Amino acid sequence: MSHHTTLSQRDKKIIWHPFTQEKTAPDVIAIKKASGAYLYDEEGRCYMDLISSWWVNIHGHAHPEIACSIYDQAQTLEHVMFAGFTHEPAVVLCEQLQSILPKELDRFFFTDNGSTAVEAAIKMAYQYWRNVGEPQRRLFLSFDGGYHGDTLGAMSVGSTSGFHDHFKDLFFQVLSVPYPDTWDEDSNIDYKEQQAIDVLMSHLNHHEEHIAAIILEPLIQGASGMRLCRTQFLQKVINILKSKGILVIFDEVMTGFYRTGTYFSLHQLNVIPDFLCVSKGISGGFLPLALTITTNHIYDAFLGDDFDQAFAHGHSYTANPLACRAAVCSLELLKKPECQNTIQDIRKTHHEGVLFLKNSCPNVKKIRSIGTIAAFDVDNTVCMRGLKKKFIDHGLLLRPLGQTVYLLPPYCVNKNDLQDVYQKMCQILRSCFL
Ligand SMILES: Cc1ncc(COP(=O)(O)O)c(C=O)c1O
Repeated sequence: MSHHTTLSQRDKKIIWHPFTQEKTAPDVIAIKKASGAYLYDEEGRCYMDLISSWWVNIHGHAHPEIACSIYDQAQTLEHVMFAGFTHEPAVVLCEQLQSILPKELDRFFFTDNGSTAVEAAIKMAYQYWRNVGEPQRRLFLSFDGGYHGDTLGAMSVGSTSGFHDHFKDLFFQVLSVPYPDTWDEDSNIDYKEQQAIDVLMSHLNHHEEHIAAIILEPLIQGASGMRLCRTQFLQKVINILKSKGILVIFDEVMTGFYRTGTYFSLHQLNVIPDFLCVSKGISGGFLPLALTITTNHIYDAFLGDDFDQAFAHGHSYTANPLACRAAVCSLELLKKPECQNTIQDIRKTHHEGVLFLKNSCPNVKKIRSIGTIAAFDVDNTVCMRGLKKKFIDHGLLLRPLGQTVYLLPPYCVNKNDLQDVYQKMCQILRSCFL
């Protein structure tokens, strides 16, 4: 008998994993190496990463050009504190992003993950009103089901996501608006949107002078189940809020970098937010990095002769040069025709794929796709946990959210391989119901 201890056995003794019920979860899979869209475990099994590892690896895994750029940067300048200092990778990254964004979004504040990008935006919005002499604006608006991260402020504005119920007593007050989620052939959407607008107007009637900002995931809510809303609805909401002077925070932590088909979701909306939160895909999945991007109008309200008006917020790894350099390289890769072509291939394959599943699997419903994201719901009768295991057993890394199965592949995925995935999913889903 072999006494060889596997990595997952060693892990089980010592490590506490995120978002996991450790008592009932299956053993973790120890990944030894990765390349492109594929991960390889210690037993030599291969998994296709169809969710870009929690939505970060936009170019797939171990991309050699990003790896080289980090190696090169590590030999030059690995880190320097970012108060009182700067460096080329940070400045170049912001200049490049600015050339992509609407010209009004022209101030860049670094943090190091999606939650802290959101915390910074919430705190900036809050302090902005204090700095301009309207401290009564303390309330935030958000949509039901919005998820913005796991730190306390991000949880407060995401309190209806269903992930944070234990902490409700710790949250600040947030006014919630129903989210009119929609899908292909949704016949009820006009009614749902009107309901949302009615609730929004009621909040404004009661609290207009006290609202600091709204935060939302534009066009699609991620963690609450890849829930889409219509462009014209969102535009209407934002125009109403802007006309009242309420600040608008776009959380594009998931939707950025072509996830919804354009560089950012805001490029499909004829509106400019006051804050844009960006993370996840920014560094191609190599290193943690985030930005809270705002306008010089907001920035100017923090200027003063003493520290009191300044934004007293910062993280040790703020604007880490290795992460910034990886991000600059990732932006270069995004521009390449092969990447842009793959994005189009994914979009088309998703569109056809979910339709195929709907027509072939009786329990697939609410199909939807946008850009490089596809999703559908599965009838309640299915044990979703069993489904996740079946996917893994077939070499597909998919992580259903509640009753929702979704695909969010990296931009290096091969079109034929992705088409095969839909065939495999069909077999798996059908086998669940026989
Ligand atoms: C829209 C959105 N905002 C914020 C976050 C939090 O990001 P992080 O996990 O990097 O803290 C997430 C993570 O899934 C997200 O999807």
